[in-house]
Amino acid sequence: MARLSELREGHARKVEVDDLEVALWRVGGRVYAIGNVCAHQHFSLLHQGILEGLTVGCPMHGWRYSLETGLALEGSGRVPVYRVMMKGDTVLVSLAAEG
Ligand code: FES
Repeated sequence: MARLSELREGHARKVEVDDLEVALWRVGGRVYAIGNVCAHQHFSLLHQGILEGLTVGCPMHGWRYSLETGLALEGSGRVPVYRVMMKGDTVLVSLAAEG
């Protein structure tokens, strides 16, 4: 898991939950959790993506995903969206995908 105090606003961090890689993005004081693996060519780099509002662009070829729904703005791809809960400074991620 991660600590909220370690997440910088407008940046992401990759965490592993069981065998899944999750990108935790802190935007507008809120934490969003999406699958870290791009639906295009499966590079695990969405934690290094380019943030634009509530979308993240994959650094490889630019597919953009909504942090709220996981849907790609281009094509028909999507990444899972996970529920985030806070317990004090601890960020908890539920692996039951929301989107
Ligand atoms: S691998 Fe992400 S856009 Fe191509």
